[in-house]
Amino acid sequence: MANMRTPQEILDTEQKLVFTDDTFKLFQDLMFQKAGVVMDEQSKTFIRSRLKDSVLKKQFSDFRDYYYFLKYDRDKETELSRVIDLLTIHETYFFRETLQLDTFSDEILAEILERNKSHKTIRIWSAGCSTGEEAYTISMLLLEKPEFKDWRCEIFATDISPNVLQFARKGVYTDNSFRGVPQAYIDKYFIKENNGYRVKDQVKEKVTFFQINLIEPQKMFFLSEMDVIFCRNVIIYFNLDVRKNVIATFHERLKPDGFLLLGHSESLSYITPEFELRHFKKDMVYQKPVRSLDQAIQRSEGRKGALLEPGKD
Ligand SMILES: C[S@@+](CC[C@H](N)C(=O)[O-])C[C@H]1O[C@@H](n2cnc3c(N)ncnc32)[C@H](O)[C@@H]1O
Repeated sequence: MANMRTPQEILDTEQKLVFTDDTFKLFQDLMFQKAGVVMDEQSKTFIRSRLKDSVLKKQFSDFRDYYYFLKYDRDKETELSRVIDLLTIHETYFFRETLQLDTFSDEILAEILERNKSHKTIRIWSAGCSTGEEAYTISMLLLEKPEFKDWRCEIFATDISPNVLQFARKGVYTDNSFRGVPQAYIDKYFIKENNGYRVKDQVKEKVTFFQINLIEPQKMFFLSEMDVIFCRNVIIYFNLDVRKNVIATFHERLKPDGFLLLGHSESLSYITPEFELRHFKKDMVYQKPVRSLDQAIQRSEGRKGALLEPGKD
C-alpha cells in the first residue's frame, strides 16, 4: 500500500512521457508499413493516449525507446499486434447499412442462387470484420433464406487484429452491437447471458475467422473464388496506393460476376475501372464483370493486331 501512487502522481508520470514530433513520425511510418494505415498529422494526441499505458508498462519514459522495442526486441511481434490493435478503429455493429444489406439479401443472393445452383455452394469474405458483427449478420441473412438450407455456405471473416478475432470467436455481445437490430433477430439467433447475448451455434457454424493483413496478399491463398466480398469501412484508412493494391487483390479473389460491397463513404473512383457499378432497387454495388477476361483477351489481341498490321513499321 505504501507504494500506491496518487492519481496526481500517475498523471504527472504520464505527462512526463517524452513524445517528440520525430518519434510521432516513426509511429506513423510503422503503422503504414505494418498495416497500410495512414495516421494523419492530427493523430499525435490519439497515439499518445492509446499507447501511454503500454509505454509505462514497459517502464520506458520516452516513446522513442518504446518504438525501438517494437522494432528490435525479441518479443516485438506480440507487442506490435497490440499496438496495431490499439491504433486501428474497430467500430462495428450488427445489421450496419441496412439498405445495402437488403440489396444483398433480396437481390444479390437471388442471383447467386440461380448462378450456383449446380454446385450449391456460396463463398463470402468479410474482410476487416472487426469483432464479427458483420460476418454473423451475413450468416443470419443466409439462415433467413430457406432456399440455402441444403447449400454449403462459407463465410470467411478476417482482420489484422488477433484481439478482435478472439472476441468474435467467442461471439458474446452487449447492447452497443445491437443498435437498431429488430428484436425478432435477437430472440431468434441469440441466447441471453449474464454479460450479454451469445450468438447461437447455427449462426457461428457458417463463419470461420482468420487473421489476415490485407496488405499481405501472399497469405490469402485460400481466399479465392469468392461470390461476394464485404470490405466495409476499412479502405478509408489506407492511402490511394494501398487501396489500389487491396482492391486489385479483391478483384483477383472474386469470381467473374462476383460482388464487392464497400462502406457507404467508400468508392472505387480513382482506384480502378475494373468493376461495374450495378444499380439495384435500394443501393448500388460494385460487380466484377464477366467480360473482364474477354476484354483482356481482346485488348491483348488488339495490341497484337496493331503490331502485325501491314504497312506499318
Ligand atoms: C471500422 S472496422 C470495420 C468493421 C466492419 N467491416 C464494419 O463495417 O462494420 C475496420 C477494421 O479493419 C481492420 N483493419 C485495418 N487495417 C487492416 C489491414 N491492413 N488488414 C486487415 N484488417 C485491417 C481493423 O482492425 C478493424 O477491425
